[in-house]
Amino acid sequence: MKTDSADYQVHIGRGLLSAVGEVSMRLTDTVSRVFIVTSPEIERLWAAPVRDGFSALGVPVETLLVSAGEGEKRLGTLERLCEELAAHRADRDSLLVALGGGVIGDLTGFLAAVYMRGIRFVQVPTTLLAQVDSSVGGKTGVNLRAGKNLVGSFYHPLVVIADIDALSTLPERELRAGLQESVKAGVIRDPELFSYMESHADAILRGDADALQHVVEASVRMKASVVGEDEREHGLRMILNFGHTVGHAIEAATEYRALLHGEAIGWGMIAATRLAQSRAMLADSDADRITALVHRYADLPRFQADAEQLLALTGGDKKRRSGTLNFVLPTAIGSVEIARDVMEVELTGAVNAMLLEMHFGRPSAPLAPAQPVHA
Ligand SMILES: NC(=O)c1ccc[n+]([C@@H]2O[C@H](COP(=O)([O-])OP(=O)(O)OC[C@H]3O[C@@H](n4cnc5c(N)ncnc54)[C@H](O)[C@@H]3O)[C@@H](O)[C@H]2O)c1
Repeated sequence: MKTDSADYQVHIGRGLLSAVGEVSMRLTDTVSRVFIVTSPEIERLWAAPVRDGFSALGVPVETLLVSAGEGEKRLGTLERLCEELAAHRADRDSLLVALGGGVIGDLTGFLAAVYMRGIRFVQVPTTLLAQVDSSVGGKTGVNLRAGKNLVGSFYHPLVVIADIDALSTLPERELRAGLQESVKAGVIRDPELFSYMESHADAILRGDADALQHVVEASVRMKASVVGEDEREHGLRMILNFGHTVGHAIEAATEYRALLHGEAIGWGMIAATRLAQSRAMLADSDADRITALVHRYADLPRFQADAEQLLALTGGDKKRRSGTLNFVLPTAIGSVEIARDVMEVELTGAVNAMLLEMHFGRPSAPLAPAQPVHA
């Protein structure tokens, strides 16, 4: 992973947890202490090989625990962790290890960014979503009551170490939701990944390690290439938001409870695909492939919200800049465009098409071009 401000490796493979210590210590000459930040459940499942790896090198290791769940990704938890680090006399040579999903990764990255004005940290993602997406790219932060990820920093890890074996204990629903980010990666920039996910769905969903490794590697390669060109989201990086404008609105409308992040993004990708199709930017056959793959990887839950509510909530999304609605729309499998002129009436039509699909299933015939249901 190479950006204007950072250059680090992403290791992806099996049995890597026991190598976290060795790989990390090879990259630094001074580490006084290691603090593993993780949740109690992941600590029980996966912390031992990480801890033992550092201990074998004679580095003292402490563990800081954070309860699982999005609710802990907040300033209160950050303050508590800062106090705990200080109580343990953590100094500028301390190293943090984020062992967990995106919540632990985002929180620990931000903790590393602010404790003593910045200490080093290592990302060890244990969910599919964190391996394919959140651990790479340097976005860290916490939520406010007003919205997700509103306080944070761009701060890159020393290294990312993704152990495919850790995914073996992940609940199936979490695996499926995370795979939506890989579907996204295929749609926006990697047609080969998209085809691979079409042809290897059974193996991937069964948790076959080789198939998962292929998906994680391709997804990370795609993200790294985008972030490498546009670290601060001035242009190209916005394509990573495919599905996220409506997805975030769905998450907000359901108060972040009914759907996992990836599931909301799945619905959001369907809405964006319908929007592109209604503008005749995308062939019906490609639109069908995208929606079929989204549904193949997740049993997207139904939710309670209407188009009006969802539209109002897209207004609070960071992707909406200066009054105009920016939208990432697919033009083929593997390519997207950022449309800066999307009108509310079009978005209403696309959101209604998505809601119809949620209530009555996928349309068997291609949708007629853009006649919004409620103009
Ligand atoms: N920084 C970024 O660029 C970026 C990108 C996308 C998402 N995110 C953030 O990521 C977060 C979501 O991450 P997530 O989907 O990984 O959720 P998560 O971190 O909440 O993890 C999901 C659940 O899986 C459990 N878990 C984790 N690893 C496990 C394992 N190996 N075995 C069993 N259980 C395990 C966790 O304890 C948790 O209950 C959100 O806060 C989102 O904003 C950040």
